[in-house]
Amino acid sequence: MSSTPASPTRPLVDARSAPAETLRLLAQCRDAFKTAGKSGADFFYATARRKIEEGAFLGLLWIGPGEEAMAYAAWEVAGELGRRGSLYLSEGFQRPKILEGFLNRLDHASEGSLPFISWTGDVPGLSDEECASVFSRRGFVGVERADMRFPQGAALPAEPPNPSHVFRPLGMDDEPAIADLLFRVYEEDPFERALFATTSDSREDSRRGAHALLHGEVGRWIPEASFGIWDEGRLIAHTLANELDGGLITEVGVDPTYRRRGLARRLVFHTVAALRAVGFQEPRLVVTLRNERAARLYERIGFVFVPGGSGRVWLRVPALGVGGSGGA
Ligand SMILES: CC(C)(COP(=O)(O)OP(=O)(O)OC[C@H]1O[C@@H](n2cnc3c(N)ncnc32)[C@H](O)[C@@H]1OP(=O)(O)O)[C@@H](O)C(=O)NCCC(=O)NCCS
Repeated sequence: MSSTPASPTRPLVDARSAPAETLRLLAQCRDAFKTAGKSGADFFYATARRKIEEGAFLGLLWIGPGEEAMAYAAWEVAGELGRRGSLYLSEGFQRPKILEGFLNRLDHASEGSLPFISWTGDVPGLSDEECASVFSRRGFVGVERADMRFPQGAALPAEPPNPSHVFRPLGMDDEPAIADLLFRVYEEDPFERALFATTSDSREDSRRGAHALLHGEVGRWIPEASFGIWDEGRLIAHTLANELDGGLITEVGVDPTYRRRGLARRLVFHTVAALRAVGFQEPRLVVTLRNERAARLYERIGFVFVPGGSGRVWLRVPALGVGGSGGA
């Protein structure tokens, strides 16, 4: 494959007009992820292929001098905030200069439409340092996400005390209450909004989030390992678990006015025990490292970080109207 720099005047192409070329490029990226020892390469490819086959994807291709796709940017719209994207470079073009050139062209192409507010950190074939140098020059801040797991055979700590509220497993009928709690938990957190928002309306986002978690969009929901705590008929804290590459704790949230009373600890304890009881020996979760409180909570219960199991998302923090990258 040629490594000649592409002509700067070639326009970007809507990826929907070249699905076969897009898939070919993604297969190369899957292989580059595997070579780099990244987990989830097959899952990534299967998901991307399904979206492409359904025509349910947004993206632009940069076509090279030999009519091959050199680079591909896929994205979703994060409400009024902007676009969240992933970048893929084809074999022979996996170099920082190509990434930089592609980002310049994308910024140019997105004039008049929503800006890109975040990029996933993993660009196949490029090291973390190479990505960091390109993204940080453009005002993006790296937000680290890490996999944690509860080791097989590890003992759970003593059961945390009952907080004297109603505590019970969640069911499908609780979906509106779960959506309402998701709204209260994340409303004031611009980072979480930037990482996960799909609409400009955070209430609508919470409804969609609850629906996705309970109806199989994030793997099968495991209601027997998902718990809620209630105060005077109102859901004030919850954990949700889904079957995705094992037993995954997909949500831990406590209403802001009920925090630091041990509710999350109690919920996570019971979710881990219940996941094990239904056969998931190593419950897992993903934590954003800037969320120190959550990471500390999980470590105290017995979760450990998975070596090599972290990834970065590059966030254009100034566009969110918040300062710095600290705090949780
Ligand atoms: C992270 C989160 C779930 C923690 O919930 P929580 O119910 O406050 O957690 P806990 O009370 O069990 O533990 C938190 C802290 O309170 C302390 N605590 C527990 N009981 C306490 C009590 N009776 N008095 C004082 N402190 C107490 C714990 O020791 C812990 O201290 P630390 O932060 O110094 O480690 C909550 O802050 C939240 O919903 N955040 C937003 C959503 C989120 O980030 N979820 C995690 C995504 S991975």
